[in-house]
Amino acid sequence: MNGDRLRLRLPCRELLPQYEAALAAGWSPDTERDASAEQLARLRRDPVEFLADLTRRDGSIGSAAGAMPRLPGRVFWLDDGEFCGLINLRYMPGSELLPDHASGHIGYAVVPWKRRRGYATRALALMLPVARDVGLGHVEITCDEDNDASRRVIANNGGMLAGRRAEPGGKTKLVFRIALAPPVAPP
Ligand SMILES: CC(C)(COP(=O)(O)OP(=O)(O)OC[C@H]1O[C@@H](n2cnc3c(N)ncnc32)[C@H](O)[C@@H]1OP(=O)(O)O)[C@@H](O)C(=O)NCCC(=O)NCCS
Repeated sequence: MNGDRLRLRLPCRELLPQYEAALAAGWSPDTERDASAEQLARLRRDPVEFLADLTRRDGSIGSAAGAMPRLPGRVFWLDDGEFCGLINLRYMPGSELLPDHASGHIGYAVVPWKRRRGYATRALALMLPVARDVGLGHVEITCDEDNDASRRVIANNGGMLAGRRAEPGGKTKLVFRIALAPPVAPP
């Protein structure tokens, strides 16, 4: 399978029950920490507010290091007719750099029952023009050294190893860089 049927969609009420089911099954949309129980509680308390919060561009967010100011970004859900996962982009306007607490420009997670269909590879391919359109000349994506699937996703999209980063707790993250082609000028 090559992921051709996959679309990126803004978080929406239509797919919210499937997002909720994924959380209830223990899937975490945050790859740095297990956020499923916390998100499930917030979603069930106030679904409208929860949805608005997912796409909010100000305020703070929970992270492995505690609450941090929210960076500008985009979040999309992966949709093949059903909810499949998410991909997000964060960046600092006018800069290619990121603060230390942000683990790369792009993060993604596919629900376990939709994996190995090319969806993460396709989602990243669809996100790269979005990153270019917000002004980035390249993106950095980090992944755990032993995350073979994510390494393949990045390699499939032209990622080159740019470095290694020691993480608190002794883990090593690989840092990959993907150069973003300039937009093609209309004829
Ligand atoms: C990493 C992840 C997003 C991959 O999603 P996916 O939709 O299954 O990825 P794809 O189908 O596009 O597969 C990409 C490649 O990885 C390979 N792959 C998928 N799962 C794999 C696994 N468990 N072990 C080894 N290779 C794997 C695929 O065969 C494919 O290889 P190919 O390009 O050589 O054919 C998914 O496993 C996931 O959500 N993991 C948990 C969250 C996570 O790690 N996110 C990334 C943080 S950096």
